[in-house]
This record gives sequence, structure tokens and C-alpha cells, in this order.
Amino acid sequence: MTAYSDILVETPSDGVQLIKLNRPQARNALRNALLREVADVLAHAADDPQVRAVVITGSSQVFAAGADIKEMAALDAVGLWKDPRPTYWRTIRTFPKPLIAAVNGYCLGGGMELAMHADIIIAGEDAQFGQPEINLGIIPGAGGTQRLVRTVGKALAMKMVLSGAFIRAREALAAGLVAEVTQPELTLKRATTLAESIAGKSPVAVQLAKEAILAGFETSLSQGLELERKAFLFLAASEDRQEGINAFLEKRPPQFKGQ
Ligand code: CAA
Repeated sequence: MTAYSDILVETPSDGVQLIKLNRPQARNALRNALLREVADVLAHAADDPQVRAVVITGSSQVFAAGADIKEMAALDAVGLWKDPRPTYWRTIRTFPKPLIAAVNGYCLGGGMELAMHADIIIAGEDAQFGQPEINLGIIPGAGGTQRLVRTVGKALAMKMVLSGAFIRAREALAAGLVAEVTQPELTLKRATTLAESIAGKSPVAVQLAKEAILAGFETSLSQGLELERKAFLFLAASEDRQEGINAFLEKRPPQFKGQ
């Protein structure tokens, strides 16, 4: 296993990998090294058939406080242009397997953008989400202006991005940003249980479902429906589909192999 400085990587159960952001002294600020490590784990997980779902989390106080402001302060426009971060974000964005964020405490700026890269966010009651970049005289730089509005709509996205106001977990749930709110001490457990459940499904079907849903953000309805139809037909050639249907008819649990 590769040694990482800013994250911890664990395998809490079969098929599930856990990434813990681990820079408590900087509130898990996403310096380049941290983001590179997250991207590296996901790049390996994408190619590893043993990994069927990934959970990403922070600490009980903070998921992540955003980009590392001290690191960012040292970069001028050319420095930012040469910055490798967009490459790391691309790896995270294109991770083909389910990614679940378990969020407690502050989830701010680039940290909130990281959580929005996840397919599902499980939030503790104490979670606070915000895009406070405006307070620094900048704007979100890792998709915040685009993903937030597509997720919660213009009114709330404008309020958050223009004023830097935070929202709490319950409001995030009502707005559709998070899938579930739990007691803070149960957030990671709930995210891991959900990941285990997904890891037990057909990896082929899961990945195609993720691809189809994400494609919906980029395409017209008719193109999206076409893509869904093709994925649905493609699955007819999978052994997992045969196994799923046979298992139902034989009244036994399916054993999906990702074939
Ligand atoms: N970058 C670098 N260091 C950070 C940091 C960040 N985003 N957030 C916190 N830290 C550091 C602090 O500087 C402090 O370090 P020192 O002990 O060396 O002084 C340490 O972490 C503890 O910070 P606080 O004392 O502020 O901790 P707190 O628990 O009282 O508050 C917090 C926590 C509310 C998250 C607060 O730290 C905070 O507001 N952080 C900044 C949030 C922010 O503005 N995020 C947006 C960043 S820009 C961005 O993300 C742009 C992008 O996407 C491209």
C-alpha cells in the first residue's frame, strides 16, 4: 500500500474502500498533496476489481475547509494556470464507481466541491455547507458555481455563492444536496453500510447507472434516454443480468461477479 501524508486509506469491508482526509491541523484544507493523494487512490480503485465503492470522509469537526488558502496565496495567475489541480479534479470527476461522501462539521469551498463530486452525500446533523470564497475576493474554482446550481437551483446557489452563507444539514437535505441526515456519530457507519449494499450489486449495472445519471446533466432528455436505452441493452449481454434474474426466480441471493 502506498504511504500517504494527508489521507488514510482503509478497507472497512469487502468491496469498500475508505478515504479519510487527515490534515487536522489545517482543517483538512485541500492542499495539492492531499488532492493528488485522493486522485491517486481513486485512479487505483477504478482499476481494482476488488473495489466496488469508495467512501470519503473527514473528521468529526470538519470534512474539509476548502482549498489551502496559504498554498493558494503563493500562486499568481500563471502559477494557477500551471497548477496540476485540474488534473486531480478530472480523475475524481471521472471515477467510474460509486463515491459516497460522509460529511460531519464544516464542508466549505473546495471541500464542498469535493463532496459534490461524490454521487451520494450522507451528512451528520452538525454538518455545515458553504462556498465562502466570496469572502476572499474569489469564486469557487472546482465546479461550485456549476454543480451547486444544478443540484439546489438558482435561488439557493446564488445566495450561498454571492453571500458566502452556510447552510446546515437539514436545509441541505431539503434542497437535495444531501441524500440523508444522520446523528453525527453514525454518519460514517451509515455511508459505509450504504457502500456495502451497493458493492453487493452488479458492478456493471452500477457503473452504467452512474454514467447514465451523470450524463443527464450534460445532455438533452432525448439524448439521455437514448444513452439509457443503449446501456440497458448492453446489460442484456452481461452474466450479472442472467445471475440477477436467475437468483430471483430461484429465490436465492444473487452473486454478482462484474462480468
Ligand atoms: N486553508 C489553509 N489553512 C486553513 C484553512 C484553509 N482553507 N482553513 C483553516 N486553516 C488553518 C488555519 O489557518 C489555522 O491554522 P493555524 O493554526 O496555523 O493558524 C488552522 O487551520 C485552524 O483554523 P481555525 O482556527 O480557523 O479553526 P476553526 O475550527 O476555528 O474554524 C473553519 C474552522 C470555519 C473551517 C475556518 O478555519 C475557516 O473559515 N476556514 C477557511 C474556509 C474557507 O474560506 N474556505 C474556502 C477556501 S478557498 C477555496 O476553497 C477555493 C476553491 O475551491 C478553488
